[in-house]
Amino acid sequence: MINYTDKIPNNVDLGRDRVLQRALEHWQPAFLGWWNDMGPNESNAYEVYLRTAISVDPEGWAQFGYVRMPEYRWGVFLQPRDPNRLVNFGARKGEPAWQEVPGEYRSALRRIIVTQGDTEPASVEQQKALGLSCPSLYDLRNIFQVNVEEGRHLWAMVYLLHRYFGRDGREEAEALLARRSGDGDNPRILGAFNEPTPDWLAFFMFTFFTDRDGKFQLCSLAESGFDPLARTCRFMLTEEAHHMFVGETGVGRVIQRTCEVMNEHKIADPGDVRKQGVIDLETLQRYLNFHYSVTLDLYGSDISSNAANYYTNGLKGRFEETKLTDDHVLTEATYPISEVVGGKIITREIPALTALNARLRDDYIKEIESGLSRWNRIIDKAGIPFRLTIPHMGFHRAIGNFAGQHISPQGEVLSEESWKNHQYEWLPSPEDYKYVQSLMSGRVTEPGKFANWIAPPIRGVNNQPPNFEYVRFN
Ligand SMILES: [Fe+2]
Ligand SMILES: [Fe+2]
Repeated sequence: MINYTDKIPNNVDLGRDRVLQRALEHWQPAFLGWWNDMGPNESNAYEVYLRTAISVDPEGWAQFGYVRMPEYRWGVFLQPRDPNRLVNFGARKGEPAWQEVPGEYRSALRRIIVTQGDTEPASVEQQKALGLSCPSLYDLRNIFQVNVEEGRHLWAMVYLLHRYFGRDGREEAEALLARRSGDGDNPRILGAFNEPTPDWLAFFMFTFFTDRDGKFQLCSLAESGFDPLARTCRFMLTEEAHHMFVGETGVGRVIQRTCEVMNEHKIADPGDVRKQGVIDLETLQRYLNFHYSVTLDLYGSDISSNAANYYTNGLKGRFEETKLTDDHVLTEATYPISEVVGGKIITREIPALTALNARLRDDYIKEIESGLSRWNRIIDKAGIPFRLTIPHMGFHRAIGNFAGQHISPQGEVLSEESWKNHQYEWLPSPEDYKYVQSLMSGRVTEPGKFANWIAPPIRGVNNQPPNFEYVRFN
């Protein structure tokens, strides 16, 4: 059980390690200071119907109730330890899972933890202003839920840094509160986390695409031979599921509403659709293209010796590593990757160990495809002849084999000039952003009311109705 009498709720027996407890209690006010500066605008006095983790038991792990966000019980929760757990892959496969950091992997593990940890506050910073243009109280509550849980994910990583990495870890924990998304001098570590999230459509796309990258990274870290990292990532995944739900249903409700309006007025032209104050499907496709492509960059280079080392050393596994039926060492295996050679896209086999980033990304793409087919079903059901598609993997990439190339969504290799002529057919233009933001100039705060551009959800939160007062402003 989680100890809620402590200043910092936890299930890691923090009270028994006074030095660690004091170090974290010292970091806590700095975290709250960061939340105050970079958390959701003007939200400190709101009472929000939030879930809080109260146990790591999969049945009934969360409790719902009104909370002021600065009083949210951010804590440290790890999946219970399995004393028989082993290192399940790589050169040290079969050893008991490590309860302390092996000295030779110290800097690699620290880098992995810091990189993961950095994404958590980054997304809160990116979403900071969105509460002021929320389409409903239901949606406002959902974004706040995502924000407080990203805050908790930061706690999860900071706990590991403090507990296992000594002074270096404490310095890294401070740096996590000092970087800022999009800052010219001290930006967040990864590109997608420095992009603005300027409107609610971008937010829903972000939680569908980019939080799902988070899921896949957490899944591969949940396989780590370093047991505390594995256990903390397992528990984070429980919370992450909701973030992707917010994204998938959010975009789905936008599609639903657009289709309703198209049918009601018997219109298909995007300009006519916009006149009705909803988001045309063509613009949705462009947002999708943008968020998909910047998220693929998060998987890193297609060919990566770092990824190979992380795997061979037992630090970071594959998606669902223990469910795979190969040798879990991969010294003989190969994996296909794509690249541009002589103006054409070709596929070739490379050693599987160096292709692990590409493989994780491909696993991710499969899940994206099934999400997309659920969105397309909404359009089909409305009888509208339009399909959302995912662009070619090489489209609009800044990292990996396609960086520096100009690839169309259909996978043609283009000249720079031809790319420039077409890019705003494929990516949101300044006018697209302006239009979408024009729909979101104010917030909708009456319980049960929804902005014109989005359909209500089928269900509310925790069996409450959609018209529940999810946020009280005071
Ligand atoms: Fe997270
Ligand atoms: Fe998330």
